Amino acid sequence: MNTIPIIFSTITGNAYKLAAAVAEVVPDHVGPYNIRYVNDEVIERFDTFILSYWCNHGTADDDTIALIQRMQGKRLILIGTLGAARESKHGQDVYRRVCELANENNVLLGHYLCRGSIDLRRTARRLRIPEGQKGHLSLERFERQKESLGHPNEQELEAAREAVRQFLTEA
Ligand SMILES: Cc1cc2nc3c(=O)[nH]c(=O)nc-3n(C[C@H](O)[C@H](O)[C@H](O)COP(=O)(O)O)c2cc1C
Repeated sequence: MNTIPIIFSTITGNAYKLAAAVAEVVPDHVGPYNIRYVNDEVIERFDTFILSYWCNHGTADDDTIALIQRMQGKRLILIGTLGAARESKHGQDVYRRVCELANENNVLLGHYLCRGSIDLRRTARRLRIPEGQKGHLSLERFERQKESLGHPNEQELEAAREAVRQFLTEA
């Protein structure tokens, strides 16, 4: 297996946490690198990539989508976090959409998704938007968002390491 770059896209740090955790089980890797610094030369030089993303509006974040769309015939391992419960219908939909995205022009070796804490300071602002208006967040949903705090936890980081170990063994 050749050297594997580990690339993360994040706004609040969860994707970096996952990337740093799995780096421990990838013997020959470079990174974790911030996705902002990935240029064409990096894409050309490697054949296998680990991409750590955050879920934005039901799919991968825009930077990760753009990077995957610049790739052709690469072998990809995707790891990501979302604010909702992983086992929810939404979690399953996100997982499936990101699998489809990764398989479009590339080969998905494996995908690990778990919960990631939501930035409540950011979402609390939306409580002030009146019901019926774009961006409104109900108190009930805000309360549910609190369940995301503390994720990814040590158990989830260990599960990510184990998943990546497995994906690489099977590759
Ligand atoms: C603009 C925005 C959109 C989001 N959309 C979703 C979403 O559709 N579904 C979800 O479960 N979580 C969503 N989240 C929550 C993040 O995916 C989650 O908190 C993630 O762990 C953030 O990762 P990061 O710390 O690497 O940025 C969203 C967060 C933001 C800021």
